[in-house]
Amino acid sequence: MPPAADIIAIAADHAGFALKEVLKEDLLAAGHQVMDLGTADGTTSVDYPDFGAALARAIAGGQATRGVVVCGTGIGISIAANREPKVRCALCHDVTTAKLAREHNDANVIAFGARVIGAEVARDALRSFLTTAFAGGRHAGRVGKLTPSETKPNLKAIA
Ligand code: RB5
Repeated sequence: MPPAADIIAIAADHAGFALKEVLKEDLLAAGHQVMDLGTADGTTSVDYPDFGAALARAIAGGQATRGVVVCGTGIGISIAANREPKVRCALCHDVTTAKLAREHNDANVIAFGARVIGAEVARDALRSFLTTAFAGGRHAGRVGKLTPSETKPNLKAIA
């Protein structure tokens, strides 16, 4: 049973709705607290930036500790989530990318493309994401450079 404060937010657009529902059921069955931020069906066309932003706000505001976002490719909604500096959203395609997103990048949000990978692969990847710890060590400094205060000097250096 995860700690009570560990709330997992989940959000998707219409293309990701069906996979969101599958993953949400898995999370609930595993005893997680889930905050479903929509969308509410797979037939009404909606805009993925709205759902990525809603999830990012929940992470930034502390209402959720981790997150799952789904759209057709996983690309648009991961870009949207990553506009919030406290979010490290990793678009993952399998168990390997999900595991390394945690070990190397300390990702706190995982993104899936429902039109790209199958539900079983996504389910396995999400389990891996949730059970893998950040490796720290040499990765800690690199992840630190992703924070806003460190990003600016990096961008200047490559300009
Ligand atoms: C919606 O048709 C689609 O563009 C969206 O789900 C996503 O793939 C965007 O990146």
